[in-house]
Amino acid sequence: SKYRIAVVVGSLRKDSFNRKLANALARLAPPDFEFEQVRIDDLPLYNQDDDGHQAAPVLRLKKEIAAAQGVLFVTAEYNRSIPGVLKNAIDNASRPYGQSAWAGKPAGVIGISIGTIGTAMAQQHLRNVLAYLDMPTLGQPEAFLQAKEGLFDADGNIGEASRAFLQGWVDKYVAWVKRHNA
Ligand code: FNR
Repeated sequence: SKYRIAVVVGSLRKDSFNRKLANALARLAPPDFEFEQVRIDDLPLYNQDDDGHQAAPVLRLKKEIAAAQGVLFVTAEYNRSIPGVLKNAIDNASRPYGQSAWAGKPAGVIGISIGTIGTAMAQQHLRNVLAYLDMPTLGQPEAFLQAKEGLFDADGNIGEASRAFLQGWVDKYVAWVKRHNA
């Protein structure tokens, strides 16, 4: 049977490096894994008053997470933390209290930025949130990527220099998801 991975990209930008990374990582996954990017750009700003009647996009997101065997966060770093759009998606799908979609889903965290620390601070902040949400999150290997010429090849695959490293990352993530669905 297939392992469905809900991929949450922490950037709404059309030419997002993180979206490109998410697309390229999906191609490194084995055939029994399906990576599907979930939509977060149409979610309302989280408001606790809506917990009793969540908007359709929130219910859709929660359904997609519930149906997944794992979650992969591929995020940008904004001002040394996670982008608000990502936190908003996380908050929306975490409620009402006791009905979080995230609980127990094995997670991976990765990201790319133009800065030299390659989303390290955003990833660390995200790990803090995921720990509270009770998501077992792959600890190693870590991957902090800087957007550079050649990271992606002309076809959108991971370029030669980083291919083996990121294949190793995906292999570890795949094993992590399998272990938490055994
Ligand atoms: C950034 N950027 C950025 N980069 C970084 O490494 N650390 C940071 O703290 C920030 N802060 C930040 C704030 C805001 C509001 C913006 C718009 C940008 C730069 C960021 O890495 C760059 O815009 C990436 O291209 C964002 O990822 P996507 O959109 O390409 O996936």
